[in-house]
Amino acid sequence: MTSATDDKTIVRNYFNAQGFDRWSRIYGDGQVNKVQRDIREGHQQTVDHVLYWFKQDGNAQGLTVCDAGCGVGSLSIPLAEMGAVVSASDISEKMVEEASFRAKELLPPESVPTFDAQDLETLDGSYHTVICLDVLIHYPQEKAGDMIAHLSSLAEDRLILSFAPKTPFYTLLKRIGEFFPGPSKATRAYLHREADIRAALKANGWQIKRKEFTATQFYFSRLFEAVKVTD
Ligand SMILES: C[S@@+](CC[C@H](N)C(=O)[O-])C[C@H]1O[C@@H](n2cnc3c(N)ncnc32)[C@H](O)[C@@H]1O
Repeated sequence: MTSATDDKTIVRNYFNAQGFDRWSRIYGDGQVNKVQRDIREGHQQTVDHVLYWFKQDGNAQGLTVCDAGCGVGSLSIPLAEMGAVVSASDISEKMVEEASFRAKELLPPESVPTFDAQDLETLDGSYHTVICLDVLIHYPQEKAGDMIAHLSSLAEDRLILSFAPKTPFYTLLKRIGEFFPGPSKATRAYLHREADIRAALKANGWQIKRKEFTATQFYFSRLFEAVKVTD
């Protein structure tokens, strides 16, 4: 068994158990503690940046979107509401069950995304836009290139992804345990060098068109929108 397989098993088990309890609460609107509220607000900013890009481009109507590692549907649901045809998936059965439940509560039946419990590296198909938010945190650096290559193979026009950047400051924060405090320490959190992510995107024929950075006290995420290189 490779260490990456170990990582995936640990991540799947975590997001089917205590990780599900924690993150479905953070990605909800119920009562949470101060740290969880901070992470909720930071994550919402990342989601809002993506939705804003769709709006800037004249909306999402009819666009096929793959939301890889969809969690409980924080992005899939508003995108479907904007008219995108969303295929959402996550390695955790519990997360997709909850996403599907929330989508059915909030959306008319014809807009509800498809939800599948699936490792993103086994996804197939072809989509206008592939999005992968805050999932790279579960990938060690040596596996990130393969993951980005696979997502690239699914994306016709655009790949949007976010990751926690590896800077001396955030490395220190992580080391002294202020990063993802509480039970989420049950999974390993991997930071990624921005240069490595840029290089992986470039190697797969992408150029970065728009980018954002969200930082609150306990949440930080670099967001890239990559489009096909045109000369
Ligand atoms: C921090 S949550 C982010 C969820 C969602 N993208 C969002 O921004 O609301 C990370 C999610 O990635 C999922 N995940 C981790 N590794 C995965 C993999 N290899 N394939 C699919 N999903 C994965 C986890 O189960 C979890 O739901």
